[in-house]
Amino acid sequence: RAEDGLDGWLRYARLRDCHTGGQLDDFATSIVALNATEGAPLHTAAHELQVGIQGILGLELDVSDSVTDKDTSSIIVATAQAYEDEFGSLPEAVDLIEDGFYLSNKGDDTVIIGSNERGALYGAFEYLSMLAQGNFDEVAYSTNPDAPIRWANQWDNLWDNGTHGPVERGYGGVSIFYDGVGHVREDLSRVPMLGRLLASIRVNGIVINNVNADPTILSERNWDGVEEIANLFRPWGVRIGMSLNFASPQTFGGLDSFDPLDDQVIDWWQGISDEMYERVPDFAGYLVKANSEGQPGPLTYNRTLADGANMFAKTIAPHGGIVMFRAFVYNHLADWTDWHADRANAAVEFFAELDGQFDDNVVVQIKYGPIDFQVREPVSPLFSTLRETAMAIELQVTQEYLGQQCHLVYLPPLWQTILDFDLRVDGQESRTRDVLNGNVFGKKLGGYTAVTNVGMDPTWLGSHLSMSNLYAFGRLAWDPTLDSGAILDDWTRLTFGLGRSVRETIRAMSLESWPAYENYTGNLGIQTLTDILYTHYGPNPASQDNNGWGQWTRADGDSIGMDRTVRNGTGNAGQYQPEVAARYEETETTPDDLMLWFHHVPYTFELHSGKTVIQHFYDAHYAGAETAATFPKRWETLRGRVDDERFEHELYRLTYQAGHSLVWRDAINEFYRNLSGIPDVHDRVRHH
Ligand code: GCU
Repeated sequence: RAEDGLDGWLRYARLRDCHTGGQLDDFATSIVALNATEGAPLHTAAHELQVGIQGILGLELDVSDSVTDKDTSSIIVATAQAYEDEFGSLPEAVDLIEDGFYLSNKGDDTVIIGSNERGALYGAFEYLSMLAQGNFDEVAYSTNPDAPIRWANQWDNLWDNGTHGPVERGYGGVSIFYDGVGHVREDLSRVPMLGRLLASIRVNGIVINNVNADPTILSERNWDGVEEIANLFRPWGVRIGMSLNFASPQTFGGLDSFDPLDDQVIDWWQGISDEMYERVPDFAGYLVKANSEGQPGPLTYNRTLADGANMFAKTIAPHGGIVMFRAFVYNHLADWTDWHADRANAAVEFFAELDGQFDDNVVVQIKYGPIDFQVREPVSPLFSTLRETAMAIELQVTQEYLGQQCHLVYLPPLWQTILDFDLRVDGQESRTRDVLNGNVFGKKLGGYTAVTNVGMDPTWLGSHLSMSNLYAFGRLAWDPTLDSGAILDDWTRLTFGLGRSVRETIRAMSLESWPAYENYTGNLGIQTLTDILYTHYGPNPASQDNNGWGQWTRADGDSIGMDRTVRNGTGNAGQYQPEVAARYEETETTPDDLMLWFHHVPYTFELHSGKTVIQHFYDAHYAGAETAATFPKRWETLRGRVDDERFEHELYRLTYQAGHSLVWRDAINEFYRNLSGIPDVHDRVRHH
């Protein structure tokens, strides 16, 4: 059914009797929502429980606003405040911070208590997730978010100008927000559906337009549309944010300047912010990409990036809003003939000296690696550089460089190489995830963002299986220590049912998928080797070099890799904390998977594995393509266990992936075989 795709992991499919096993006899007979007002998340929670339990268990429960019949059991859902008002005190184990919840199904009643309404809604989804997975265990616990910022970013364009698509780097159809000719859509029916999915994974904010922002989002007609989008997300506890174009006061507002220190400009933005909060009182904040890839910014006026960020921040601080200011600032016209030039250095070079100058409600939003969502990158050194500044990480659910949803690539294992990385700040254990939750540098604000880029496709992202990445993003933003395989098991049960073979097959394939993709694309930290000039898809190793974009490999006939050492290269290794810097400075201590990221070495250089670089390329490409070749065969074993529509949809994609991985394998291997002149010891790679 098409709607199975739209429901994502919230299908509420009926459990079989063998899974409910007698649990239904003394199941609750009503839902009690304390102080639920129409349109508020608590009301949503009660309704969702009603719909979910009807679907999963086939039971019809009434919703009321107080406990009337003491003889039957209820599911009570409330904020902590309302619960206390009604019952005099809270259960002992309730220990909540903002957005957290308590869930207990011990005792006669099931109790769901949120620190706020949003938390109560999260608790309702958690309870439904248990039921949908046939889990009737007795539990009683509080859970709280690791970090307050858990936002989706949509790169939706107002205009479908044919450059990068109606959703930039989106592979799931046209925008759910805009009509492609400059306006918010008339039909916004997808918005609450997305709100529901986001709420169920505890994502509490969404930026609704592209970081390459079009000022016409501020047009008279679009104000109503933006307000409507906010109204549709509100019942789900999802607040909206907006990307701004720095030059708007001039290009849209008709002023003669966009200097962030010019009073007229400040007044203009203040007017925008005031109108925003009048229309959307719970507006979450702005997202700003400035002075990057041709976007305007404060540097035009010799003002600092902090001046720019703070200007916006001051206009929304009184309203409680925040500014997510992107660290993705670099020169895309860099001189590739300069051995010491390095795009990877840009973020630290721009931001380090501004540390301490940002207002308290500015959060610097940092891509996970120093370049751009590549298949393997070291963590961005900026995370261990900014001590006085709130920070959030930017991940990508949309698979821009990672197969664009035509390849199965389950991303959490990649994300966890970054989140778990020990940055060794001041020689102490300091994992990236503990920077993001504010613990390392004692910050209140911080967290997680992901470029999601869902669209009007019935699968949202373009492929059913890619939805596991969206699901896992929310789960990890709440608790980054979760096991990525366990998250996937939950997702698979919710999405495809409780069958063991389905779960085990999808788990095994998914966990092998990122290593396989890395194997048949770019190895040893050389980056993905996709076409970088336009599509970011398919093999094009030659496109990396000899242009200003800076994703260089420095490959020639004898050697390959970026020399990022302090001793002889770009100095990038030295941007890390001393222990990490020392590790990356030397080939002896650099892990193989980042060898070519940090070092320029001969193709015959021997890795820790004992293989040469070139032979590693050859072998990895064969191994990766071999793994991908197993995917359609393994999926075939699920015929009849997954409904035909989704079965065929994925079979088609996995078959394509298996074929495309051969294209990748041969394109990359033959390219470097030709360039290096070194044959494959197993004699598989052709020479042209
Ligand atoms: C990538 C992507 C662009 C995007 C940019 C950004 O380079 O290809 O489409 O605008 O990142 O994150 O700002």
